[in-house]
Amino acid sequence: MNKILTLFFLISLCSYLLANDINDVYKRCVACHGVKGEIAALGRSIKISQLSKEEFIKSLKEYKNSNKNISGLGGIMQAQVYNLNEKDFENLAQMFKLLNKKE
Ligand code: HEC
Repeated sequence: MNKILTLFFLISLCSYLLANDINDVYKRCVACHGVKGEIAALGRSIKISQLSKEEFIKSLKEYKNSNKNISGLGGIMQAQVYNLNEKDFENLAQMFKLLNKKE
């Protein structure tokens, strides 16, 4: 019984920490991109509110896996996403309320 309780506690703790974590990440993004992605970050990026969910996730994957650099500030974005995974990208797309336009 105790083991089950401990396990349950650990699972809740993990989801709590993860949930908090993604909120913190989102706040970081918002600082440059705006709550709905309505701001051109540092005057250089597109407004990410224009992206579909797929384009958004694809773009973040590219920053993570390559040296993507559109305006000369790609390094900033690489630093934002290097430790995030695809699930995080999905969550962020939802937080920015990006739609699955192509479906
Ligand atoms: C310090 C400011 C800053 C922060 C914080 C930041 N970004 Fe960016 N973002 C930029 C800049 C500048 C660019 C343009 C980069 C380039 O030249 O490739 C960009 C580009 C992007 C793009 C690419 C748009 C395209 O043209 O394909 C996406 C998507 C994006 N950011 C999402 C995010 C997300 C999600 C986060 C949080 C994890 C985040 N950004 C955090 C500044 C920021």
